[in-house]
Amino acid sequence: MGPIGVFDSGYGGLTVLKSIVDVLPKYDYLYLGDNARNPYGSRSFEVIYQYTKEAVDYLFSQGCELVILACNTASAKALRTIQQNDLHRWGPNKRVLGVIRPSVEYVIESSRTGVIGVLGTEGTVKSESYPLEISKFSLKRNMEVFQQACPMWVPLIENQSIHTSGAAFFVTKNVEELLQQSANIDTILLGCTHYPLIKPIIELNIPNYITVLSQGDLVAESLKSYLERHTWMDSQCSKNGVVSFLTTESSTLFDERATQFYGEQVNSQQIVLG
Ligand code: DGL
Repeated sequence: MGPIGVFDSGYGGLTVLKSIVDVLPKYDYLYLGDNARNPYGSRSFEVIYQYTKEAVDYLFSQGCELVILACNTASAKALRTIQQNDLHRWGPNKRVLGVIRPSVEYVIESSRTGVIGVLGTEGTVKSESYPLEISKFSLKRNMEVFQQACPMWVPLIENQSIHTSGAAFFVTKNVEELLQQSANIDTILLGCTHYPLIKPIIELNIPNYITVLSQGDLVAESLKSYLERHTWMDSQCSKNGVVSFLTTESSTLFDERATQFYGEQVNSQQIVLG
């Protein structure tokens, strides 16, 4: 038995972890932020795959049986290859899940017009994962997906510069670029786990008939349902209500900044990947 591993390139996955812990408080969790190598957003497939594989490998070596990639960029670029090429090497009972599939299932249900906007990193947008997955899971409906990459947002968030005029400029610019692509968008998915931190600033630029969705709650509900349906996995997850944190950056820096994302004080440990 071991904790549920939750991985992100940096702090963004803490927004997902927070929702998961609220919905499933009895489980143990081990969070890993690859802060020293963040952001992943504009990196190549090979690098994101390699970094993500190293992180998953580390979490499995710490006793995790299930790892959630709480990062869209890693889910978009590395998840499928890890599931196909690597998972079997870690053992038959290990699983890695991402955040794209649960988000897709939810947005398909929630949109009335069938026209979805996705805001994400360059990597997520260029991977076309959202349009591809939405068309795969919306067989009965004809849906349209418009995407906008927001390459400056993660660095601004990671560097605690979200309340600057520079941040406001880039948020307005990218949101306008998305809205200009279609007048029929009724649902915008924040397809990056960092973006919930600037949701109020994003919403200032969006007409209120458009619903803006963060992923934390969707992923948490989906994990709950996964564990109910896969009781063999549930029985491999330890349940003492302990949440631990690992980072590849300085733990002092991580602890200082993580509070903003997680909502409470954390005590992390620094590790080396690769
Ligand atoms: N939180 C990651 C995501 O959901 C951020 C990616 C990055 O490091 O740029 O895509």
